[in-house]
Amino acid sequence: MTITETEGSAGVQRILSGAKPTADSLHLGNYIGAVRNWAEMQSRYDAVIFIPDLHAVTVDFDPTTLAHRTRTVAAQYIAAGIDPEKCTFFVQSHVPEHAELAWALNCITGFGEASRMTQFKDKSAKQGSDSTTLGLFAYPTLMAADILLYQADLVPVGEDQRQHLELTRNLAQRFNTRFGETFTVPEPAILRETAKIYDLQNPTAKMSKTGESPNGAIQLLDDPKITAKRIKSAVTDDGTEIRFDAENKPGVSNLLTIYSVISGKTVAELEAEYAGRMYGHLKVDLANLLVDFVTPLRERTNELLADPAELDRLLARGADKARSIAGTTLDTVYDRMGFLPRRQA
Ligand code: TRP
Repeated sequence: MTITETEGSAGVQRILSGAKPTADSLHLGNYIGAVRNWAEMQSRYDAVIFIPDLHAVTVDFDPTTLAHRTRTVAAQYIAAGIDPEKCTFFVQSHVPEHAELAWALNCITGFGEASRMTQFKDKSAKQGSDSTTLGLFAYPTLMAADILLYQADLVPVGEDQRQHLELTRNLAQRFNTRFGETFTVPEPAILRETAKIYDLQNPTAKMSKTGESPNGAIQLLDDPKITAKRIKSAVTDDGTEIRFDAENKPGVSNLLTIYSVISGKTVAELEAEYAGRMYGHLKVDLANLLVDFVTPLRERTNELLADPAELDRLLARGADKARSIAGTTLDTVYDRMGFLPRRQA
């Protein structure tokens, strides 16, 4: 298991996670760092996996590409092993309870408390206050709503989300204290950094959708020929020895990490296998390995995208499942807060 140990409890624990649809394709870093782990966890946990599209509009976005990106990411998740039969898989904007609970949480969150969120501070400093929206300010409370609506026990995310999870825990405890026991206080399950994937052209920066050179990332929907080319033109380091040394050999180390994750061999096994051989050998083998890996993934994604009506049906079923959980939580929240009951339809 790739998450830090958490206290066991009776019964199956619920995990919840998601990633914003802000690119035209997932890249290899998304797969290795997140999707692969979620897919693996759905058999051991009651998994809730969703696409936070409401979060995607908190910064500048293009309304003509959002729906396409959401469908593409959904298809890629399914192709990568997220099984809508095994888990609850849906799109955030299809479940209105997220926005409703977020509002309630906004009303118990301090202005100062929200102002201390480092991601908000970084992004708003970059954009300037006139382009910074209230939506961006409320990003963390919407994320808290995502988690608390489903009474999630564990939230597997990267280190960069730790502060948002702490806020979520604080809000859950605050609500429970003030209005009565309502929410499960989730445990952060911070994904270990061991399989962090770096930019192929700039191997000290994380592989990302906003890297300087498009050649730095492996997009899972790219033509496999391009994938092979990107591996072969990856930046390597001085010297000739193939060994893992993130500090002095970040380029080769990154290739070894990718190789290890995709092949299932340990880095030590790979080092032994490539002892005395050249960087070029490693690259050719890794390029072939990755082509074999991405080709079926891409084919399955394109198959799913060829039938958008069926994909939308899958997502609609996921949203129904999600609403049956989220609706129950929201009813309790509204009741505890003293709202006049809604008339049943
Ligand atoms: N903020 C998360 C990220 O950028 C995405 C996200 C939104 C999320 N809501 C969530 C992750 C709830 C886990 C749980 O990666």
